[in-house]
Amino acid sequence: MGSEDVYYPSQEVLDYATVKEYNSLYKYSIENTEAFWAEQAQNLEWYEPWDKVIDDSDKPFYKWFVGAKTNIIHNAIDRHLKTATRNKIAFVWEGENGDLRVFSYHALNREVSQFANILKSMGVKKGDTVTIYMPQIPEQIFAMLACAKIGAVHSVVYAGFSYESLGERIKAAKSKVVITADGGFRKGKIVDLKSIINVALEDNPYTQVVITVKRTGQNVEMVSDRDYWYHDLKSLPIASIKCNTEVMESTDPLFLLYTSGSTGKPKGLVHTHGGYSVYTYSTMKMLLDVKSEDRIWTAADPGWITGHSYIVYGPLINGATMFLYEGAPNHPYPNRWWQMIEKYGITILYTSPTAIRGLMRFGESWVKRHDISSLRLLGSVGEPINPEAWKWYYEVVGNKKCPIIDTWWQTETGGHIIAPLPIFPLKPGSATKPFFGVQVAVVDDDGNQVQPNEQGNLVIKNPWPGMACCVHEDRERWIETYWKKYEKFGWYHPGDAAKYDDDNYIWIIGRSDDVIKVSGYRLGTAEIESALVSHPAVAEAAAIALPHSLKGNAIYAYVILKKDFAVTADLENELKDQVTKLMGPIARPESITLVDSLPKTRSGKIMRRVLKARAQGLDVGDISTLEE
Ligand code: WT7
Repeated sequence: MGSEDVYYPSQEVLDYATVKEYNSLYKYSIENTEAFWAEQAQNLEWYEPWDKVIDDSDKPFYKWFVGAKTNIIHNAIDRHLKTATRNKIAFVWEGENGDLRVFSYHALNREVSQFANILKSMGVKKGDTVTIYMPQIPEQIFAMLACAKIGAVHSVVYAGFSYESLGERIKAAKSKVVITADGGFRKGKIVDLKSIINVALEDNPYTQVVITVKRTGQNVEMVSDRDYWYHDLKSLPIASIKCNTEVMESTDPLFLLYTSGSTGKPKGLVHTHGGYSVYTYSTMKMLLDVKSEDRIWTAADPGWITGHSYIVYGPLINGATMFLYEGAPNHPYPNRWWQMIEKYGITILYTSPTAIRGLMRFGESWVKRHDISSLRLLGSVGEPINPEAWKWYYEVVGNKKCPIIDTWWQTETGGHIIAPLPIFPLKPGSATKPFFGVQVAVVDDDGNQVQPNEQGNLVIKNPWPGMACCVHEDRERWIETYWKKYEKFGWYHPGDAAKYDDDNYIWIIGRSDDVIKVSGYRLGTAEIESALVSHPAVAEAAAIALPHSLKGNAIYAYVILKKDFAVTADLENELKDQVTKLMGPIARPESITLVDSLPKTRSGKIMRRVLKARAQGLDVGDISTLEE
């Protein structure tokens, strides 16, 4: 190990970890990749076994466990009902207002079956896509699992998105049925969702039914013959507590999840039943090291891939106990998280660097008021973790005894790709090494491996079971976005810059394309710019990311106004509001600067790199392609 900060695992951590050795198993998994994944898959139950572990006859559309019959629900719920796990707690949920709900695996099955029968009675069929736009309440999870159970595809839209983004996603998925709630609690206030759904559904030819769960009890507008209260439906005989799990092909779609890219509108990534089951199961077990005695809290929104993989499917397939919390971390006081960790005896906490920095800001006295010694493992996800936040997490939250599992992955990868096992020596800010069965490299634009400590593009050299199968109804975009750049080699190109150090540890530097990570949320500069240009005053716009101490990055926008447009005092706020309205509050620019021109290449592409360097007072670098 180099001489920089290295944190070695204690003997206790070494003794307790599920996987005790990396090198030989990694070597085996690379030399015998199909056998390795087949062995992993054999830990799950299948209705019928596969003919082939991987079918790569239509690259880059890989198919996993081809010929096998399964349903992720069989492994997440059904098989546990035959064992002692049926009596185990599947999850504990705490509402921001202090409400508490607890579900055993048996109760989870009952709730999911009832929801599934309701969906069927509303005409949802195998292969249909149901859109879910909900606060973080248990019914959000029941809804997702109910879709999977009957072979429908869920498309969860994060509750922070605006009606515009929501409406587009509902239309793209052609959802006949949409599920929502009358609101959720955040910072003591009600977050309204139903009125956003109502606007999003104006001029929507597909949606015939909206199912609304009552959470807050506030008055909402219900459209007759379209809108139904969930609790009313649940009291009808159709909502039986018995429901068969639909038998699916391993390669059938399980869910759609939209994510931003460097160009165009967000794309719907599609994940499938079989491969995704195996991958979330294995990564959860080996990297997050979940065991029967654990209580795991993935403090993320179920509406993102982190929630899909490590709140919902990964823990359930492992028969684990999860904790879920509805609201804000500082409500009513900044000790809320620590209080809940103490109360419920949480052992694994998995969250984002932004959340850690946010809690760190309140100071360690809030942490010290509580006995959080139940924690044994901490995880990080969503953006590079700065060493300062890492050390605070390690020292103050983990009391220097919990390994920090910094997990690099994406919506597209379905599960962790680069992350340490708990037994690794750790370096703050490095996600360390690839997971078993996955080969990664850092290369230049021509595909040559770069020297240690030199920046290059991260690539994944071989397929893995958690990978998305495709982009929803857009074959070309899957190829174009991820596989074109290194087509010659058949490598997957995630769009991140990275480097290796002298110990062969990988350091993720950040996005290398026009994607901005704000508080761990992924936004495309193209979407932000098009939101700005949709304002009547704006002729052209450019958005860039600049470092921000809390959010990781913040959005800075540059705008050229239309000729003869009279600048008003409030214009800057109006433009910010426009972005909030179309994309949601996360995308709200930090600052907007009015300019007369934007740096462009001769072919008309905005040189965001130049804007960024100028804004930071840095050398603008090579501008030979600049138009003027
Ligand atoms: C992008 C993917 C992975 C689930 C949540 C985000 C960045 C993610 C890390 C990490 C450095 C990270 C990458 C990646 N990212 N985890 N541990 N260290 N960067 O999923 O919204 O699809 O975003 O998040 O830039 O490409 P996503």
